[in-house]
Amino acid sequence: MEKLTIDSIAARKVLDSRGNPTIEVDVVVQDKRRVRAGFGRAAAPRGASKGKHEVIAFPRGGVDVSTEAVRKIVAPKLIGKIADRQGEIDLLLHELDGTPNFSKLGGNVAVAISAAVAKAAASARGMLLFKYLGGGQAVRLPYPLGNVLGGGAHAGKQAPDIQEFLSIPVGAISFVDAASANSQVHKKVKGLLEQKNETFTGGKGDEGAWAPNLNNLDALEVVARACEEVVGEVGFEMRPALDVASSSLYDTKKQKHVYEREGVSRDQGEQIDFILGLIETYKLFYVEDPMHEEDFDGFAELTRKAGKRCLICGDDLFVTNVGRIQKGIKAGAANAVLIKPNQIGTLSDTLAAVKLAKKHDYVPVMSHRSGETPDETIAHLAVAWGCPLIKTGVAGGERVAKLNELIRIEEKLGAKAKMGMLR
Ligand code: PGA
Ligand code: ZN
Repeated sequence: MEKLTIDSIAARKVLDSRGNPTIEVDVVVQDKRRVRAGFGRAAAPRGASKGKHEVIAFPRGGVDVSTEAVRKIVAPKLIGKIADRQGEIDLLLHELDGTPNFSKLGGNVAVAISAAVAKAAASARGMLLFKYLGGGQAVRLPYPLGNVLGGGAHAGKQAPDIQEFLSIPVGAISFVDAASANSQVHKKVKGLLEQKNETFTGGKGDEGAWAPNLNNLDALEVVARACEEVVGEVGFEMRPALDVASSSLYDTKKQKHVYEREGVSRDQGEQIDFILGLIETYKLFYVEDPMHEEDFDGFAELTRKAGKRCLICGDDLFVTNVGRIQKGIKAGAANAVLIKPNQIGTLSDTLAAVKLAKKHDYVPVMSHRSGETPDETIAHLAVAWGCPLIKTGVAGGERVAKLNELIRIEEKLGAKAKMGMLR
């Protein structure tokens, strides 16, 4: 097949689900004779509880500086380059930025360009992105982690200190059933909250999870009960899970995790015991960021004690960065890695993180951010790279955009489709 080259790159400021500005990039590729052409569009998400070691989302001056940089610096260098050579495109993005953390261009610019180039190349070849990136091996659908109740940095002060209370339909045999089961839990949680708390207004946090005036344990109780009730309806196993997002709770001076709403502070040992207790009592399938982002040792102790029966996942700890994942593997710090492409900046860097995780039997978990657009790229990345889990919310257009794309991918794969391998 003839080589495809990048013909044009355009960047614009668009809005994310919080109404904050982010960047969207359009890429057109074509072959020399201009017979075959492809178009790719990708938008970058934005986090609220960002890890300290993530790349910089936007340079000083924000999205406008980034769009200008695409026009003046990036587009002139990328136009004419071969679109299928993702590694070279991504390397060039690093060179044009020239800093270790994308602080000149912005990691969000890099990730949007990187993804838009891949999408354009896939479209010119008449392929869906998951197939273009993953080939014939890409037949496994991820289990969706559904954020059904939330607090922390994604909701108001009276909501729980823990950021995300999730459900996982671990027994589902198809993606569409799995996604529907999470929606049932989300609905069930609303009903239980209305019974429990007369003043519940139906308010939601940034990811569409209910944000009630409840403490952590009452919230977990509600989610665990909702999961149990849905098990009775769907007939397969559902388990509760948490993203503690501990870095948002951690006070470096006090060296404690401060649960403001609960009025409790926990040092490393107390935090480990607290989480171990929750894993036991509620049969948690997955706990993300149980310890703060520098605490490799605390993570390791928890993984030693609970890693056989629960996935211990690092988000802010690893920030999709191979150097930090390597450090974690050495320390035995976890058994799962959250994968957020915009934490690291390009598809190639993201794939390197997934490969390293898999090589060491750490489960890669593809993930959205709290600020999202309807961009569906991560649905394809999860299937292409064989991530057994995806965290992409349950409710709201920007969340269901990914779920619905996975439903379409499952349909496209037909009889070949299988659910991911969890352990
Ligand atoms: P974010 O957090 O607000 O940084 O996207 C989501 C998460 O902690 O998983
Ligand atoms: Zn997280």
